[in-house]
Amino acid sequence: MTQILQRLSAILGDDLILTDAADMDRYLRDWHCDATGAALAVIRPRSTADVASAVRACRDLGLAIVPQGGNTGLVHGALPQSSLQHIVISLERLNRIRSIAPDDFSMTVEAGCILSTAKECAAENGMFFPLALGAQGSCQIGGNISTNAGGINVLRYGMMRDLVLGLEVVLPSGEIWNGLSTLRKDNRGIDLKQLFIGSEGTLGVITAASLKLTPLPTQRETALLAVASLDEAVALFRLARRECCDLMSAFEFMPPEAFTLAQEAMPDLVMPLSAQYQAYVLMELGGSGLLHMADLMQRFLELGLEKGLILDGVIAASETQAKTLWSFREGMVEGQVKRGRHLRTDVSVSLSHLASFVAEAEAELASALPACLAISYGHVGDGNVHLNVLPPTGTPEGERDTIIKQAKAIINSVLFRYQGSISAEHGIGREKMDDFRLGLAPTQVQLLAALKSAIDPDWQMNPGVLF
Ligand code: FAD
Ligand code: LAC
Ligand code: ZN
Repeated sequence: MTQILQRLSAILGDDLILTDAADMDRYLRDWHCDATGAALAVIRPRSTADVASAVRACRDLGLAIVPQGGNTGLVHGALPQSSLQHIVISLERLNRIRSIAPDDFSMTVEAGCILSTAKECAAENGMFFPLALGAQGSCQIGGNISTNAGGINVLRYGMMRDLVLGLEVVLPSGEIWNGLSTLRKDNRGIDLKQLFIGSEGTLGVITAASLKLTPLPTQRETALLAVASLDEAVALFRLARRECCDLMSAFEFMPPEAFTLAQEAMPDLVMPLSAQYQAYVLMELGGSGLLHMADLMQRFLELGLEKGLILDGVIAASETQAKTLWSFREGMVEGQVKRGRHLRTDVSVSLSHLASFVAEAEAELASALPACLAISYGHVGDGNVHLNVLPPTGTPEGERDTIIKQAKAIINSVLFRYQGSISAEHGIGREKMDDFRLGLAPTQVQLLAALKSAIDPDWQMNPGVLF
Protein backbone atom coordinates (compact mmCIF):
# COMPACT_ATOMS: atom_id res chain seq x y z
CA MET A 1 0.00 0.00 0.00
CA THR A 2 1.38 3.41 -0.92
CA GLN A 3 1.99 6.06 1.71
CA ILE A 4 -0.90 8.12 0.38
CA LEU A 5 -3.29 5.19 0.70
CA GLN A 6 -2.12 4.53 4.25
CA ARG A 7 -2.86 8.15 5.13
CA LEU A 8 -6.29 7.98 3.46
CA SER A 9 -7.13 4.79 5.36
CA ALA A 10 -5.91 6.29 8.61
CA ILE A 11 -8.23 9.31 8.13
CA LEU A 12 -11.32 7.45 6.91
CA GLY A 13 -11.01 3.95 8.40
CA ASP A 14 -10.86 0.68 6.44
CA ASP A 15 -14.66 0.27 6.24
CA LEU A 16 -14.99 3.12 3.75
CA ILE A 17 -12.12 2.28 1.38
CA LEU A 18 -11.58 -0.36 -1.29
CA THR A 19 -8.07 -0.67 -2.67
CA ASP A 20 -7.91 -4.26 -3.84
CA ALA A 21 -7.99 -4.55 -7.67
CA ALA A 22 -10.69 -7.25 -7.64
CA ASP A 23 -12.92 -5.23 -5.27
CA MET A 24 -12.51 -2.08 -7.36
CA ASP A 25 -13.10 -3.79 -10.70
CA ARG A 26 -16.84 -3.11 -11.03
CA TYR A 27 -16.33 0.63 -10.39
CA LEU A 28 -13.74 0.81 -13.14
CA ARG A 29 -15.69 -0.31 -16.19
CA ASP A 30 -18.61 1.28 -18.02
CA TRP A 31 -22.08 -0.22 -18.46
CA HIS A 32 -21.36 -1.44 -22.01
CA CYS A 33 -17.92 -2.79 -21.01
CA ASP A 34 -16.62 -0.62 -23.87
CA ALA A 35 -14.14 1.18 -21.64
CA THR A 36 -12.16 0.62 -18.47
CA GLY A 37 -10.68 3.10 -16.02
CA ALA A 38 -8.09 3.22 -13.25
CA ALA A 39 -8.18 4.57 -9.70
CA LEU A 40 -6.03 4.60 -6.60
CA ALA A 41 -9.02 3.71 -4.41
CA VAL A 42 -12.79 3.63 -4.19
CA ILE A 43 -14.40 5.35 -1.20
CA ARG A 44 -17.92 4.26 -0.20
CA PRO A 45 -19.28 6.74 2.37
CA ARG A 46 -22.26 5.87 4.56
CA SER A 47 -23.29 9.45 5.39
CA THR A 48 -22.99 13.02 4.19
CA ALA A 49 -20.43 13.60 6.96
CA ASP A 50 -18.38 10.68 5.54
CA VAL A 51 -18.48 12.30 2.08
CA ALA A 52 -17.29 15.59 3.58
CA SER A 53 -14.38 13.82 5.37
CA ALA A 54 -13.47 11.97 2.16
CA VAL A 55 -13.47 15.18 0.10
CA ARG A 56 -11.35 17.00 2.69
CA ALA A 57 -8.89 14.10 2.86
CA CYS A 58 -8.57 13.98 -0.93
CA ARG A 59 -8.05 17.73 -1.07
CA ASP A 60 -5.35 17.61 1.62
CA LEU A 61 -3.57 14.76 -0.18
CA GLY A 62 -3.86 16.43 -3.61
CA LEU A 63 -6.05 13.67 -5.05
CA ALA A 64 -8.74 14.16 -7.68
CA ILE A 65 -12.31 12.97 -7.06
CA VAL A 66 -14.59 11.14 -9.49
CA PRO A 67 -18.13 10.90 -8.06
CA GLN A 68 -19.93 7.75 -9.12
CA GLY A 69 -23.57 6.73 -8.97
CA GLY A 70 -24.92 3.61 -10.66
CA ASN A 71 -22.21 3.85 -13.35
CA THR A 72 -24.81 3.61 -16.13
CA GLY A 73 -23.79 6.91 -17.75
CA LEU A 74 -23.12 6.55 -21.46
CA VAL A 75 -20.22 9.01 -21.87
CA HIS A 76 -17.63 7.69 -19.38
CA GLY A 77 -18.14 10.60 -16.97
CA ALA A 78 -17.91 8.36 -13.91
CA LEU A 79 -14.82 6.46 -15.07
CA PRO A 80 -11.59 7.52 -13.29
CA GLN A 81 -8.41 7.66 -15.35
CA SER A 82 -5.42 7.40 -13.03
CA SER A 83 -4.27 4.72 -10.61
CA LEU A 84 -2.08 7.28 -8.87
CA GLN A 85 -4.28 10.35 -8.66
CA HIS A 86 -7.97 9.49 -8.99
CA ILE A 87 -10.31 8.47 -6.17
CA VAL A 88 -13.83 7.25 -6.90
CA ILE A 89 -16.45 8.34 -4.39
CA SER A 90 -19.31 5.89 -4.84
CA LEU A 91 -22.64 7.03 -3.43
CA GLU A 92 -24.12 3.52 -3.36
CA ARG A 93 -24.30 3.27 0.44
CA LEU A 94 -25.92 6.70 0.80
CA ASN A 95 -29.25 5.38 -0.39
CA ARG A 96 -31.99 6.13 2.12
CA ILE A 97 -35.35 7.74 1.51
CA ARG A 98 -35.17 10.52 4.07
CA SER A 99 -38.83 11.53 3.90
CA ILE A 100 -41.89 11.56 1.70
CA ALA A 101 -44.62 14.18 1.96
CA PRO A 102 -47.56 13.34 -0.35
CA ASP A 103 -49.45 16.39 0.96
CA ASP A 104 -46.64 18.62 -0.29
CA PHE A 105 -46.08 16.53 -3.47
CA SER A 106 -42.43 16.03 -2.55
CA MET A 107 -39.89 13.54 -1.26
CA THR A 108 -36.30 13.78 -0.06
CA VAL A 109 -33.86 11.02 -0.90
CA GLU A 110 -30.14 10.42 -0.63
CA ALA A 111 -28.07 10.60 -3.80
CA GLY A 112 -27.33 6.87 -3.93
CA CYS A 113 -31.01 5.92 -3.94
CA ILE A 114 -31.71 3.82 -7.06
CA LEU A 115 -34.19 5.58 -9.35
CA SER A 116 -36.64 2.65 -9.37
CA THR A 117 -36.56 2.52 -5.55
CA ALA A 118 -37.53 6.20 -5.38
CA LYS A 119 -40.31 5.59 -7.92
CA GLU A 120 -41.62 2.56 -5.98
CA CYS A 121 -41.62 4.47 -2.69
CA ALA A 122 -43.57 7.30 -4.35
CA ALA A 123 -46.07 4.81 -5.81
CA GLU A 124 -46.59 3.12 -2.42
CA ASN A 125 -47.69 6.56 -1.22
CA GLY A 126 -50.05 7.13 -4.16
CA MET A 127 -47.54 9.44 -5.83
CA PHE A 128 -45.47 9.41 -9.00
CA PHE A 129 -41.85 10.36 -9.65
CA PRO A 130 -41.89 10.75 -13.43
CA LEU A 131 -38.26 10.27 -14.53
CA ALA A 132 -38.24 6.99 -16.50
CA LEU A 133 -35.38 5.44 -18.43
CA GLY A 134 -33.99 2.05 -19.38
CA ALA A 135 -31.34 2.11 -16.66
CA GLN A 136 -33.76 2.94 -13.84
CA GLY A 137 -33.09 -0.31 -11.96
CA SER A 138 -29.40 0.64 -11.59
CA CYS A 139 -28.93 4.40 -11.98
CA GLN A 140 -29.04 6.63 -8.91
CA ILE A 141 -30.81 9.90 -8.19
CA GLY A 142 -27.43 11.68 -7.78
CA GLY A 143 -26.34 10.40 -11.20
CA ASN A 144 -29.66 11.43 -12.75
CA ILE A 145 -29.22 14.93 -11.34
CA SER A 146 -25.57 15.23 -12.32
CA THR A 147 -26.37 14.23 -15.91
CA ASN A 148 -29.74 16.06 -15.98
CA ALA A 149 -31.20 12.80 -17.28
CA GLY A 150 -34.08 12.73 -19.75
CA GLY A 151 -35.84 9.54 -20.78
CA ILE A 152 -39.30 8.74 -22.04
CA ASN A 153 -41.48 11.11 -20.01
CA VAL A 154 -39.67 14.38 -20.72
CA LEU A 155 -42.27 15.73 -23.12
CA ARG A 156 -44.77 15.89 -20.26
CA TYR A 157 -42.74 16.28 -17.05
CA GLY A 158 -39.44 17.78 -18.23
CA MET A 159 -35.85 16.65 -17.64
CA MET A 160 -34.40 15.92 -14.20
CA ARG A 161 -33.72 19.66 -13.81
CA ASP A 162 -37.48 20.25 -13.77
CA LEU A 163 -38.01 17.66 -11.06
CA VAL A 164 -35.55 18.87 -8.43
CA LEU A 165 -36.72 21.17 -5.61
CA GLY A 166 -33.56 21.23 -3.52
CA LEU A 167 -30.08 19.74 -3.12
CA GLU A 168 -27.55 18.88 -0.46
CA VAL A 169 -24.01 19.05 -1.83
CA VAL A 170 -20.52 18.50 -0.44
CA LEU A 171 -18.43 21.23 -2.03
CA PRO A 172 -14.79 20.70 -3.12
CA SER A 173 -13.74 22.53 0.08
CA GLY A 174 -15.40 19.78 2.13
CA GLU A 175 -18.15 22.14 3.33
CA ILE A 176 -21.72 20.89 3.21
CA TRP A 177 -24.24 23.13 1.40
CA ASN A 178 -27.73 22.36 2.67
CA GLY A 179 -30.10 23.54 -0.03
CA LEU A 180 -32.70 20.86 0.66
CA SER A 181 -35.74 23.08 0.42
CA THR A 182 -39.05 21.61 -0.72
CA LEU A 183 -40.56 25.00 -1.59
CA ARG A 184 -42.23 25.06 -5.00
CA LYS A 185 -41.71 28.77 -5.48
CA ASP A 186 -38.65 30.54 -4.17
CA ASN A 187 -37.33 33.48 -6.10
CA ARG A 188 -34.60 34.69 -3.77
CA GLY A 189 -32.10 35.51 -6.48
CA ILE A 190 -29.85 33.04 -8.28
CA ASP A 191 -31.00 29.45 -7.99
CA LEU A 192 -27.75 27.80 -6.86
CA LYS A 193 -28.94 24.20 -7.20
CA GLN A 194 -29.14 24.66 -10.97
CA LEU A 195 -25.33 24.97 -11.09
CA PHE A 196 -24.95 21.40 -9.86
CA ILE A 197 -27.68 19.89 -12.04
CA GLY A 198 -26.10 18.62 -15.24
CA SER A 199 -22.58 19.52 -14.07
CA GLU A 200 -21.48 15.86 -14.24
CA GLY A 201 -19.66 15.72 -10.91
CA THR A 202 -17.37 18.65 -11.71
CA LEU A 203 -18.53 21.09 -9.01
CA GLY A 204 -19.23 18.94 -5.95
CA VAL A 205 -20.68 15.68 -4.68
CA ILE A 206 -24.48 15.66 -4.48
CA THR A 207 -25.49 13.79 -1.33
CA ALA A 208 -29.29 14.27 -1.22
CA ALA A 209 -32.14 15.83 -3.16
CA SER A 210 -35.72 16.97 -2.66
CA LEU A 211 -37.83 15.89 -5.60
CA LYS A 212 -41.16 16.95 -7.09
CA LEU A 213 -43.92 14.36 -7.11
CA THR A 214 -47.21 14.27 -9.00
CA PRO A 215 -50.30 12.17 -8.31
CA LEU A 216 -49.87 8.55 -9.43
CA PRO A 217 -51.49 8.06 -12.84
CA THR A 218 -54.12 5.42 -12.14
CA GLN A 219 -55.08 5.10 -15.80
CA ARG A 220 -52.47 4.42 -18.45
CA GLU A 221 -53.11 3.75 -22.10
CA THR A 222 -50.30 2.44 -24.27
CA ALA A 223 -50.49 2.01 -28.03
CA LEU A 224 -48.10 0.85 -30.72
CA LEU A 225 -48.90 2.72 -33.92
CA ALA A 226 -47.61 2.09 -37.43
CA VAL A 227 -46.86 5.21 -39.51
CA ALA A 228 -45.39 5.76 -42.98
CA SER A 229 -42.19 7.61 -41.99
CA LEU A 230 -40.47 9.74 -39.38
CA ASP A 231 -42.02 12.79 -41.05
CA GLU A 232 -45.49 11.30 -40.49
CA ALA A 233 -44.55 10.39 -36.91
CA VAL A 234 -43.73 14.06 -36.25
CA ALA A 235 -47.06 15.10 -37.80
CA LEU A 236 -48.83 12.57 -35.57
CA PHE A 237 -46.96 13.94 -32.55
CA ARG A 238 -48.21 17.46 -33.31
CA LEU A 239 -51.74 16.15 -33.60
CA ALA A 240 -51.40 14.30 -30.28
CA ARG A 241 -50.06 17.43 -28.54
CA ARG A 242 -53.18 19.30 -29.62
CA GLU A 243 -55.78 16.61 -29.16
CA CYS A 244 -54.49 14.94 -26.00
CA CYS A 245 -53.03 18.11 -24.48
CA ASP A 246 -50.75 17.48 -21.53
CA LEU A 247 -52.02 13.95 -20.93
CA MET A 248 -49.54 12.41 -23.38
CA SER A 249 -46.61 11.12 -21.33
CA ALA A 250 -44.55 9.31 -23.99
CA PHE A 251 -44.13 9.34 -27.75
CA GLU A 252 -41.21 7.16 -28.84
CA PHE A 253 -40.19 6.57 -32.43
CA MET A 254 -38.92 3.16 -33.58
CA PRO A 255 -37.82 1.98 -37.05
CA PRO A 256 -38.54 -1.64 -38.11
CA GLU A 257 -34.99 -2.75 -37.19
CA ALA A 258 -35.82 -1.93 -33.56
CA PHE A 259 -38.01 -5.01 -33.38
CA THR A 260 -35.32 -7.31 -34.80
CA LEU A 261 -32.80 -5.93 -32.31
CA ALA A 262 -35.25 -6.33 -29.42
CA GLN A 263 -35.92 -9.95 -30.38
CA GLU A 264 -32.17 -10.64 -30.52
CA ALA A 265 -31.98 -9.60 -26.87
CA MET A 266 -35.37 -11.02 -25.80
CA PRO A 267 -36.15 -13.98 -28.10
CA ASP A 268 -39.58 -14.58 -26.51
CA LEU A 269 -40.99 -11.26 -27.75
CA VAL A 270 -43.74 -11.73 -30.35
CA MET A 271 -44.36 -9.00 -32.95
CA PRO A 272 -47.52 -7.15 -31.87
CA LEU A 273 -48.69 -6.24 -35.42
CA SER A 274 -49.05 -8.82 -38.19
CA ALA A 275 -47.94 -6.62 -41.11
CA GLN A 276 -44.55 -4.88 -41.50
CA TYR A 277 -44.35 -1.08 -41.68
CA GLN A 278 -41.67 1.55 -42.33
CA ALA A 279 -41.94 3.23 -38.93
CA TYR A 280 -43.62 2.91 -35.53
CA VAL A 281 -44.58 5.05 -32.57
CA LEU A 282 -45.00 3.89 -28.99
CA MET A 283 -47.39 6.30 -27.36
CA GLU A 284 -48.64 6.57 -23.79
CA LEU A 285 -51.42 8.63 -22.19
CA GLY A 286 -51.72 8.81 -18.44
CA GLY A 287 -53.93 10.43 -15.87
CA SER A 288 -55.88 9.99 -12.69
CA GLY A 289 -59.15 10.94 -11.05
CA LEU A 290 -62.09 12.01 -13.15
CA LEU A 291 -60.35 11.72 -16.52
CA HIS A 292 -61.09 8.86 -18.93
CA MET A 293 -57.90 7.78 -20.70
CA ALA A 294 -59.25 4.73 -22.57
CA ASP A 295 -61.84 6.89 -24.29
CA LEU A 296 -59.26 9.55 -25.17
CA MET A 297 -56.84 7.00 -26.68
CA GLN A 298 -59.63 5.35 -28.69
CA ARG A 299 -60.82 8.66 -30.10
CA PHE A 300 -57.27 9.78 -30.87
CA LEU A 301 -56.63 6.58 -32.81
CA GLU A 302 -59.79 7.04 -34.80
CA LEU A 303 -58.76 10.60 -35.63
CA GLY A 304 -55.25 9.50 -36.65
CA LEU A 305 -56.65 6.76 -38.90
CA GLU A 306 -59.17 9.15 -40.42
CA LYS A 307 -56.38 11.64 -41.23
CA GLY A 308 -54.28 8.84 -42.75
CA LEU A 309 -51.42 9.40 -40.28
CA ILE A 310 -51.91 6.08 -38.49
CA LEU A 311 -51.74 3.02 -40.76
CA ASP A 312 -52.31 0.34 -38.16
CA GLY A 313 -52.11 0.03 -34.40
CA VAL A 314 -52.70 -1.92 -31.25
CA ILE A 315 -53.80 -0.60 -27.86
CA ALA A 316 -52.56 -2.62 -24.89
CA ALA A 317 -55.54 -4.32 -23.26
CA SER A 318 -53.79 -4.84 -19.93
CA GLU A 319 -50.83 -3.70 -17.86
CA THR A 320 -49.00 -6.89 -18.99
CA GLN A 321 -49.56 -6.09 -22.67
CA ALA A 322 -48.38 -2.53 -22.10
CA LYS A 323 -45.20 -3.89 -20.48
CA THR A 324 -44.65 -6.15 -23.50
CA LEU A 325 -44.91 -3.20 -25.87
CA TRP A 326 -42.38 -1.30 -23.77
CA SER A 327 -40.11 -4.40 -23.78
CA PHE A 328 -39.49 -3.78 -27.48
CA ARG A 329 -38.25 -0.27 -26.68
CA GLU A 330 -35.99 -1.52 -23.86
CA GLY A 331 -34.91 -4.67 -25.70
CA MET A 332 -33.73 -2.76 -28.75
CA VAL A 333 -31.11 -1.00 -26.60
CA GLU A 334 -29.85 -4.35 -25.27
CA GLY A 335 -29.93 -5.78 -28.81
CA GLN A 336 -27.54 -3.06 -29.95
CA VAL A 337 -25.15 -3.87 -27.10
CA LYS A 338 -25.17 -7.51 -28.23
CA ARG A 339 -23.99 -6.46 -31.69
CA GLY A 340 -20.73 -5.14 -30.20
CA ARG A 341 -19.12 -1.73 -29.91
CA HIS A 342 -20.91 0.90 -31.98
CA LEU A 343 -21.53 4.64 -32.21
CA ARG A 344 -24.18 5.92 -29.81
CA THR A 345 -25.49 9.44 -30.17
CA ASP A 346 -28.16 11.50 -28.41
CA VAL A 347 -28.53 14.44 -30.74
CA SER A 348 -31.34 16.98 -30.98
CA VAL A 349 -32.58 19.47 -33.57
CA SER A 350 -35.73 21.53 -33.70
CA LEU A 351 -38.82 19.39 -34.22
CA SER A 352 -39.55 20.82 -37.65
CA HIS A 353 -36.06 19.80 -38.85
CA LEU A 354 -35.96 16.37 -37.27
CA ALA A 355 -37.10 14.26 -40.24
CA SER A 356 -34.89 16.04 -42.79
CA PHE A 357 -31.89 15.91 -40.45
CA VAL A 358 -32.30 12.14 -40.01
CA ALA A 359 -32.89 11.59 -43.74
CA GLU A 360 -29.73 13.53 -44.70
CA ALA A 361 -27.55 11.95 -42.04
CA GLU A 362 -28.78 8.43 -42.84
CA ALA A 363 -28.22 8.99 -46.57
CA GLU A 364 -24.64 10.19 -46.02
CA LEU A 365 -23.98 7.26 -43.68
CA ALA A 366 -25.40 4.76 -46.19
CA SER A 367 -23.16 6.08 -48.91
CA ALA A 368 -19.97 6.24 -46.80
CA LEU A 369 -20.52 3.13 -44.66
CA PRO A 370 -22.87 0.87 -46.65
CA ALA A 371 -22.17 -2.24 -44.57
CA CYS A 372 -23.21 -0.58 -41.27
CA LEU A 373 -26.68 -0.36 -39.79
CA ALA A 374 -27.71 3.24 -38.99
CA ILE A 375 -30.70 3.29 -36.71
CA SER A 376 -32.61 6.38 -35.54
CA TYR A 377 -35.03 6.05 -32.64
CA GLY A 378 -36.17 7.67 -29.48
CA HIS A 379 -37.76 10.68 -27.87
CA VAL A 380 -38.99 12.29 -31.06
CA GLY A 381 -41.42 14.57 -29.26
CA ASP A 382 -38.41 16.38 -27.75
CA GLY A 383 -36.61 16.69 -31.09
CA ASN A 384 -34.12 14.12 -29.73
CA VAL A 385 -33.08 10.98 -31.60
CA HIS A 386 -30.51 8.35 -30.93
CA LEU A 387 -28.87 7.97 -34.33
CA ASN A 388 -26.64 4.98 -33.69
CA VAL A 389 -24.33 3.29 -36.16
CA LEU A 390 -23.64 -0.44 -35.78
CA PRO A 391 -20.72 -2.04 -37.63
CA PRO A 392 -21.47 -5.47 -39.13
CA THR A 393 -21.19 -8.41 -36.71
CA GLY A 394 -17.67 -9.79 -36.65
CA THR A 395 -15.99 -6.43 -37.34
CA PRO A 396 -12.62 -6.50 -35.52
CA GLU A 397 -12.23 -4.05 -32.59
CA GLY A 398 -9.63 -1.87 -34.35
CA GLU A 399 -11.87 -1.40 -37.39
CA ARG A 400 -14.76 -0.47 -35.14
CA ASP A 401 -12.81 2.56 -33.90
CA THR A 402 -12.33 3.82 -37.46
CA ILE A 403 -16.01 3.28 -38.33
CA ILE A 404 -17.21 5.00 -35.14
CA LYS A 405 -14.97 8.02 -35.83
CA GLN A 406 -16.09 8.29 -39.44
CA ALA A 407 -19.80 7.91 -38.59
CA LYS A 408 -19.54 10.50 -35.83
CA ALA A 409 -17.88 13.00 -38.16
CA ILE A 410 -20.68 12.54 -40.71
CA ILE A 411 -23.48 12.94 -38.16
CA ASN A 412 -21.84 15.96 -36.53
CA SER A 413 -21.35 17.76 -39.82
CA VAL A 414 -25.05 17.33 -40.73
CA LEU A 415 -25.98 18.31 -37.18
CA PHE A 416 -23.88 21.46 -37.49
CA ARG A 417 -25.84 22.48 -40.58
CA TYR A 418 -29.05 22.10 -38.58
CA GLN A 419 -27.66 23.96 -35.53
CA GLY A 420 -28.42 20.95 -33.36
CA SER A 421 -26.95 19.71 -30.08
CA ILE A 422 -24.40 16.87 -29.78
CA SER A 423 -25.99 15.95 -26.47
CA ALA A 424 -29.70 16.16 -25.79
CA GLU A 425 -29.57 13.92 -22.74
CA HIS A 426 -26.47 11.80 -21.99
CA GLY A 427 -24.10 14.70 -21.32
CA ILE A 428 -20.47 15.24 -22.33
CA GLY A 429 -18.46 13.06 -19.95
CA ARG A 430 -15.01 12.13 -21.22
CA GLU A 431 -16.26 10.72 -24.48
CA LYS A 432 -17.60 13.88 -26.10
CA MET A 433 -15.00 16.37 -24.82
CA ASP A 434 -13.37 17.01 -28.21
CA ASP A 435 -16.68 17.74 -29.93
CA PHE A 436 -17.89 19.78 -26.96
CA ARG A 437 -14.78 22.00 -27.05
CA LEU A 438 -15.23 22.63 -30.77
CA GLY A 439 -18.72 24.02 -30.17
CA LEU A 440 -17.74 26.48 -27.40
CA ALA A 441 -17.54 30.21 -28.02
CA PRO A 442 -14.67 32.09 -26.24
CA THR A 443 -17.16 33.85 -23.93
CA GLN A 444 -18.63 30.50 -22.93
CA VAL A 445 -15.14 29.16 -22.15
CA GLN A 446 -14.41 32.20 -19.96
CA LEU A 447 -17.69 31.95 -18.07
CA LEU A 448 -17.31 28.21 -17.50
CA ALA A 449 -13.69 28.57 -16.32
CA ALA A 450 -14.66 31.39 -13.93
CA LEU A 451 -17.46 29.27 -12.48
CA LYS A 452 -15.23 26.22 -12.10
CA SER A 453 -12.45 28.21 -10.41
CA ALA A 454 -14.90 29.88 -8.01
CA ILE A 455 -16.38 26.61 -6.77
CA ASP A 456 -13.48 24.19 -7.31
CA PRO A 457 -10.33 26.37 -7.19
CA ASP A 458 -7.93 23.43 -7.46
CA TRP A 459 -9.90 21.83 -10.33
CA GLN A 460 -10.00 18.69 -8.22
CA MET A 461 -13.48 17.47 -9.16
CA ASN A 462 -13.80 14.98 -12.03
CA PRO A 463 -10.83 16.14 -14.13
CA GLY A 464 -11.19 15.62 -17.86
CA VAL A 465 -14.96 16.14 -17.79
CA LEU A 466 -16.55 19.37 -19.10
CA PHE A 467 -13.59 21.62 -18.22
P1 FAD B 1 -23.10 7.54 -13.23
O1 FAD B 1 -22.98 6.87 -14.52
O2 FAD B 1 -22.50 6.85 -12.07
O3 FAD B 1 -22.48 9.01 -13.33
C1 FAD B 1 -22.82 9.88 -14.35
C2 FAD B 1 -22.16 11.25 -14.12
O4 FAD B 1 -22.67 11.86 -12.95
C3 FAD B 1 -20.66 11.17 -13.92
O5 FAD B 1 -20.07 12.31 -14.47
C4 FAD B 1 -20.50 11.17 -12.40
O6 FAD B 1 -19.26 11.70 -11.99
C5 FAD B 1 -21.65 12.06 -11.99
N1 FAD B 1 -22.25 11.70 -10.68
C6 FAD B 1 -22.88 10.55 -10.35
N2 FAD B 1 -23.36 10.64 -9.09
C7 FAD B 1 -23.01 11.86 -8.62
C8 FAD B 1 -23.22 12.54 -7.38
N3 FAD B 1 -23.89 11.99 -6.38
N4 FAD B 1 -22.71 13.80 -7.24
C9 FAD B 1 -22.03 14.39 -8.27
N5 FAD B 1 -21.81 13.79 -9.44
C10 FAD B 1 -22.30 12.55 -9.62
N6 FAD B 1 -30.02 8.86 -20.05
C11 FAD B 1 -31.02 9.68 -20.38
O7 FAD B 1 -30.91 10.88 -20.18
N7 FAD B 1 -32.15 9.19 -20.98
C12 FAD B 1 -32.34 7.88 -21.23
O8 FAD B 1 -33.36 7.47 -21.78
C13 FAD B 1 -31.31 6.99 -20.84
N8 FAD B 1 -31.45 5.68 -21.03
C14 FAD B 1 -30.46 4.84 -20.66
C15 FAD B 1 -30.63 3.48 -20.87
C16 FAD B 1 -29.63 2.58 -20.53
C17 FAD B 1 -29.83 1.12 -20.76
C18 FAD B 1 -28.42 3.07 -19.95
C19 FAD B 1 -27.33 2.14 -19.55
C20 FAD B 1 -28.25 4.43 -19.73
C21 FAD B 1 -29.25 5.33 -20.08
N9 FAD B 1 -29.11 6.71 -19.90
C22 FAD B 1 -30.14 7.54 -20.25
C23 FAD B 1 -27.85 7.33 -19.40
C24 FAD B 1 -28.06 8.10 -18.11
O9 FAD B 1 -27.21 9.23 -18.02
C25 FAD B 1 -27.88 7.31 -16.88
O10 FAD B 1 -28.57 6.11 -16.94
C26 FAD B 1 -28.16 8.00 -15.53
O11 FAD B 1 -28.73 9.27 -15.51
C27 FAD B 1 -26.83 8.11 -14.85
O12 FAD B 1 -26.98 7.80 -13.52
P2 FAD B 1 -25.89 6.96 -12.74
O13 FAD B 1 -26.29 6.94 -11.31
O14 FAD B 1 -25.64 5.65 -13.36
O15 FAD B 1 -24.62 7.91 -12.91
C1 LAC C 1 -32.54 5.51 -24.70
C2 LAC C 1 -31.24 5.83 -24.06
C3 LAC C 1 -30.10 5.15 -24.69
O1 LAC C 1 -33.34 6.39 -24.92
O2 LAC C 1 -31.05 7.18 -23.91
O3 LAC C 1 -32.78 4.32 -24.96
ZN1 ZN D 1 -32.70 8.35 -24.67
